[in-house]
Amino acid sequence: MDGRDLVRSMKMAGSVQGMRTVRSAWRHRRADARALTPRGVERARVPGLLISGEPGPGGGVVRFARSQLLVRVAVGGAVFWSWDGAGPLPSYALPGDGPEPDPRARLEPDANGRWKVVSERLTVVVSRDGAVELRTPGGVLLRRELPPRWWEPVEGGEARWVQRSELPADARFFGLGGRAGGPRLREGTYGLWNTDPGGRFGPGDDPLYLTMPVQVVVSDAGTHLAFHDNSWSGAVTLREGEEGAGSGHDRAGTCEVRVDGGPLRCWVVAGTPARVLQGWTALTGSPALPPSWALGPQHARWGFGSEQEVRRIVAGYRERKLPLSALHLDIDHYDAHQVFTVDRETFPGLPRLAEELREDGVRLVSIVDPAVRATAGNAVFDSGLEVGTEGAFVRDPQGVPVRGEVWPGECVYPDFTDPLVREWWGALYEERLGQGFAGVWHDMNEPVAFSAFGDPSLPRSSRHSLEGRGGDHREAHNVYALAMARAGYEGLRRLRPGERPFLFSRSGWAGMQRYGGTWSGDVATGWPGLRASLALVLGLGLCGVPYSGPDVGGFDGSPSPELYLRWFQLGSYMPLFRTHAAIGAGRREPWEFGPQVLGHARRVLEERERMRPYFVTLAELARLTGAPYVRPVWWGAPGDRELRDCEDAFLLGDALLVAPVLEEGTDRRPVRLPPGRWYDTATGQAHEGPGQAVVDAPLSRIPVLARAGAVIPVRGPEGGVELEAWAPAAGRTGGGLVVGDVGDGWARAEVERYTSCVRSGRVVVERDGEEGLVPYPVRVRGLPAPSQR
Ligand code: NOJ
Repeated sequence: MDGRDLVRSMKMAGSVQGMRTVRSAWRHRRADARALTPRGVERARVPGLLISGEPGPGGGVVRFARSQLLVRVAVGGAVFWSWDGAGPLPSYALPGDGPEPDPRARLEPDANGRWKVVSERLTVVVSRDGAVELRTPGGVLLRRELPPRWWEPVEGGEARWVQRSELPADARFFGLGGRAGGPRLREGTYGLWNTDPGGRFGPGDDPLYLTMPVQVVVSDAGTHLAFHDNSWSGAVTLREGEEGAGSGHDRAGTCEVRVDGGPLRCWVVAGTPARVLQGWTALTGSPALPPSWALGPQHARWGFGSEQEVRRIVAGYRERKLPLSALHLDIDHYDAHQVFTVDRETFPGLPRLAEELREDGVRLVSIVDPAVRATAGNAVFDSGLEVGTEGAFVRDPQGVPVRGEVWPGECVYPDFTDPLVREWWGALYEERLGQGFAGVWHDMNEPVAFSAFGDPSLPRSSRHSLEGRGGDHREAHNVYALAMARAGYEGLRRLRPGERPFLFSRSGWAGMQRYGGTWSGDVATGWPGLRASLALVLGLGLCGVPYSGPDVGGFDGSPSPELYLRWFQLGSYMPLFRTHAAIGAGRREPWEFGPQVLGHARRVLEERERMRPYFVTLAELARLTGAPYVRPVWWGAPGDRELRDCEDAFLLGDALLVAPVLEEGTDRRPVRLPPGRWYDTATGQAHEGPGQAVVDAPLSRIPVLARAGAVIPVRGPEGGVELEAWAPAAGRTGGGLVVGDVGDGWARAEVERYTSCVRSGRVVVERDGEEGLVPYPVRVRGLPAPSQR
């Protein structure tokens, strides 16, 4: 038991649930001790020397004394390699069969006894000792994988492995899923094991709910994404390099991936950041397009507690003329916290309530927890026992369903890695739809089993189907929530084929964007939590999950009015804009912080609504290209080192640069500008990038800058779309894309393209094709420079 465990167990001791979590922790520990043999003596192995190469589809196989390496370039440019026969499939990250090999790429020997595969975007060079280099077409080194090392238990069992890589000295690391300490991942070790930190977390907590072995590396040599396709527990240790200030003695950056079992295989996608994300989502699946109402303001609370309270809150928004798109019901609306039930005393007429709210333009979203109370008479439990020949629940090696303590008491856990279980679970969403819910919020799906000490999840020895292959929780844990998301998404699609599902999930893994988004989880109320919120959204976006956002205001306690407002302002530029808090925490409704905050919050909400057409456009572009709505400021200029290190601002699409206030008492702040002219949208003042500008950040707003030339679709005063065109800089042109709102079905809107330029001193916007005719009113902002007038 370590110090953290001790604190946890002392906090829990005393209560009945506390006693049960102590018992459950001991039970889990005993189960693992019985079923998992200690690793014992291990034999270390390296590949040995290169013997031969054999060309094959898209690359080939290189044989070494003790291992073999498959290298394959896929159509679309992603490079795959794997040691010792670990094929690209099956993989939970990839939908279907993965991409085909690119027939043009071929393994060939070079003059130095190495083998290489040349492709359009990357050259892979395999050395005689098993090192693998990735170079740009111009020959610049992006990444060098040193020969891997395995440790195989002499008595048999899974080999663990480590893969060390060298990166350019100037490289910066991002990603690895949601990391509160980011967005730039500094020197340290980052766990690969989805974990509920237990109630609240800040920048120092790692790992969190949603980890992924997906790293995005940005250096002068270029940008690439490396994905170690393995769901076992592990850790990534990063160390940024150091440049020798002209001495020629650079210290390379290093990255070490250690995993406790499973295949050693990796995908790499390289190119500009936009190409990298396009390649990554081409590989792992397009982000699901949220219904357009999910791009509006949303509000949640653990503990609304009753229909009257829900009505009171919604009326509070309406009376104050504050827009609200959705309201989320947490576990307190369940009957005794049991999933797919309703407390009939406090929520006697949920479908009617949902209908009423719907008439007011407010959708209801339901929390869905995976754990099922293990009590005969609980319909979900009873029906789960009937699934397939062995029931739906995760079992121990003796075949007995594994139990864990969660909100409803003693629970069992559906095994979502079993296709039959996914089908059964997906069908259960019919009950939610019947209650009038329009979307779902998956929670506690790391999965959580409250534990007084040790890992707050299932025993590692628990058995899973893993699509029929069979395996244990060490392999299934990290993909549990991803498979749950698939069950929910596919279930909703079957139940309501005409509507796009709305689903977001606390935990997940690579590829989860196919089913929906995520949110911060229980981010601690405080200024560090505000900063962590931005880090999470940026990191997840770079890992291919564009739709996310924080608990605005923080999950626990009570934010000061200033902190609440700054969080509200930041959150309003995130795809998921939702206020939420824990039971017992202070209120999060905008009117609870005094008239000044209410006034400013109203402006924020109105601005979000005005920006809805832009969010709709960004959502569709994320689906089409993988580009996240919220992007690091280096997105368009990864070669700019100052931008690479800027962590306190972000781009919203191509057009806007948002500079949130992340520190108390700020009314002005510096902003690092990407190249080009940027207008302060509040004052119209122009700033020239690259460089730094200092801009006003009064309590009433956070600085938002618009790129010169940008054409942004916004909602006009009459409710229709209008184009906001920011004057291009001298001699420059600009433009923007517009995707119409197709509502909540599957219709596809055309992507319209607009260009802007200055002609005879006037800003002119034209539509590509269509004889230049613009079907929307255009409002010009930012003055053309005097020389242009
Ligand atoms: C944990 C979630 O992170 C939080 O958002 C939710 O309110 C509680 N579980 C209760 O369901």
